[in-house]
Amino acid sequence: MTAEPHAPPPTNPCAGPAAARTGSGRAHAKVILLGEHAVVYGAPALALPVPGLSCTASAVLSAQPGHGLTAYRYRDAAGDAAASDVGSQAPKALRHLVKTLLNRSCPGEVLAVDLALDNGIPMGRGLGSSAACARATVNALDDLLQLGLCATDVFDLVQLAEGQTHGRSSGIDAWATGSTRPVLMTGGRVSAPTVGAPAWVVVADSGEIGSTKEAVALVRETFHREPARRADFLSRSATLTATALEALDSGRLELLGRQLTANHRLLFSLGLSTPALDRLVEVSLGHGALGAKLSGGGMGGCVIALAGTSQTAFRLATELTRQGARGTWTASIDERGADD
Ligand code: PMV
Repeated sequence: MTAEPHAPPPTNPCAGPAAARTGSGRAHAKVILLGEHAVVYGAPALALPVPGLSCTASAVLSAQPGHGLTAYRYRDAAGDAAASDVGSQAPKALRHLVKTLLNRSCPGEVLAVDLALDNGIPMGRGLGSSAACARATVNALDDLLQLGLCATDVFDLVQLAEGQTHGRSSGIDAWATGSTRPVLMTGGRVSAPTVGAPAWVVVADSGEIGSTKEAVALVRETFHREPARRADFLSRSATLTATALEALDSGRLELLGRQLTANHRLLFSLGLSTPALDRLVEVSLGHGALGAKLSGGGMGGCVIALAGTSQTAFRLATELTRQGARGTWTASIDERGADD
């Protein structure tokens, strides 16, 4: 007589092996090539991953009793550690994110985790730092508890944190901080644009901290006061992005560059630039960039400059640093995606 095979008892992902594990997660920075702000209203925008700037997260089940985030350590881009390791001093958005993920994935369990973030992405520079921290955290908890979250689950959780950090957000940061390829977002949906020829983007930090939440609110108030400006801005931004996509597809980098510079002027007209950003744009255009613009929320943060060769990108980065940029990074536009 042979024994019937037994179905294995259902396993609780939150019990057992996780006790001895460290979960690791990672996400990277992004810049917006075209279409910021317009994308909040459903118009298209194009983002580029910056894999050289990243945030890593480590999560363990806490030895202390509690629920949600118990201990939290944060090290920033300058290598400075936050003074406190008490979980209650973590950003509200991260605490909410951890609690929500644990409640959803391990219903009925009272679980506490300790989280350490090593964030090399400067905050408040339009580089997607908050989204990358949230994404690295979700990935670390997914790894710790072996949840097998799908891309949409991860996106939804990152968006939950982004909603608390920035208020209304399009979701482009939440996708682009986890993508190795350029990301096109239109009407809330994402796809990968085709790239006809490689190009390089130099990112230059003005050193000024901008608040995406305030910038988005400023645009919303302007549109509320002057509805005609909303229609005009959205239609111009959409046209620039559409032309840029054609230029990217056919490898016409000069045409692409012109769309970037025109997009800078459009964002300037809404009061989103600063003298420091304008100056970095001028320096870029005067030293071989095919186009340049502020990137992200604006009112501070970074400028991006398009270069047709890696040599031009290197020269641009050197000149931008000489002319006051606090940091520069280079990312390539390449359909195959960057190594991450
Ligand atoms: O996080 P930032 O500064 O890159 O801003 C994101 C771009 C915005 O269009 C201004 C906001 C959004 O949610 O898309």
